Amino acid sequence: MKITTKLMFSLFAATLLCSACVKGPETGRGAKTGGPVRIGFSMDTLKEERWQRDKALVEQRCKEVGAECEIQVANGDDAVQTKQCDNLLTKGVNVLIVAPHNGQIAASIVEAAHKQGVPVISYDRLVRNSDVDLYVAHQVVKIGQMQAQYALDHAPKGNYVLIGGSQTDNNALLLMEGQMNVLQPAIDKGQIKIVTKQFAREWLASEALRIMEDALTKNNNDIQAVVASNDGTAGGGVSALPPQLVGHVLVTGQDASLDAVQRIVDGKQTMTVYKPIQPLAFAAVDSAVKLARGEKVDAKDKINNGKIDVPSLLFEPMVLDKDNVMQTVIKDGYHKLEDVYKNVPKDQWPKQ
Ligand code: BGC
Repeated sequence: MKITTKLMFSLFAATLLCSACVKGPETGRGAKTGGPVRIGFSMDTLKEERWQRDKALVEQRCKEVGAECEIQVANGDDAVQTKQCDNLLTKGVNVLIVAPHNGQIAASIVEAAHKQGVPVISYDRLVRNSDVDLYVAHQVVKIGQMQAQYALDHAPKGNYVLIGGSQTDNNALLLMEGQMNVLQPAIDKGQIKIVTKQFAREWLASEALRIMEDALTKNNNDIQAVVASNDGTAGGGVSALPPQLVGHVLVTGQDASLDAVQRIVDGKQTMTVYKPIQPLAFAAVDSAVKLARGEKVDAKDKINNGKIDVPSLLFEPMVLDKDNVMQTVIKDGYHKLEDVYKNVPKDQWPKQ
């Protein structure tokens, strides 16, 4: 009797523990027992600097753990991304990592992979309405909240422009959600007014520039803050500003891309959100290997994708402004001091 109770208790504990786990398939191509795991990494784009890091770090981690890795880049074309994934599956990958261009359309990639017993990891951007096995990303809603909170703290009154990213990217929607969570109370109190709120097609800087030019014209240049969802759109927004406004209008961003951090130390962009890429890329590869071997991945978070609660590994983003450049991107070796301060006279460089 005692033993039975003990056994039942351990079973119960195991169930509890595994509620936070995701496991690869036990049969099919995903169930890889011997030899190196073959990973297919399907990327939407390499346009933003961060994606080049993602690619290099995934390749590096694959080498380190002895996995084979094939990377395909779709350059923003959904049909191409679907086809490239089909090709990777035909070539016999054991697991797919997908950074989707369009989170809805990519559901068919998950379906095709699962038909062959191949698990799929959604990378940085969520694949919607699918049984995707795992989501590895930064905390996206929190990034939107950080951008908006920073803006409110430093420009607590006035006219706001919101420039979102591509509407086909679930992240663009989550960022806007996070921003609005924070801004709504200030709007309700009449402290700030959103004069323009638009999504920039394909995250294009040129789209952001157009949105910003329109907003400036309609409001006689009376704009206090631009909540841009990433550094590309921030750059577009800054280029639309007349010279007398540069440095006086608060501009947010995301990615800590080199040009954005340069703008920050030059006083042209106010902040960005720094997302170290290494933990993300390494976690994706390590999880891919585990899933391919039918092993468990401990994923404590969950994000609903419209169909299921996807087990998720979510990493912390950080606010970066001119005051903590040294303690963040420079300290981490994400950027070099001489690159960041390239446009600043050398006698004004911070001491290392
Ligand atoms: C990523 C950002 C990136 C943007 C444009 C988003 O999904 O999270 O880091 O700047 O896509 O590529």
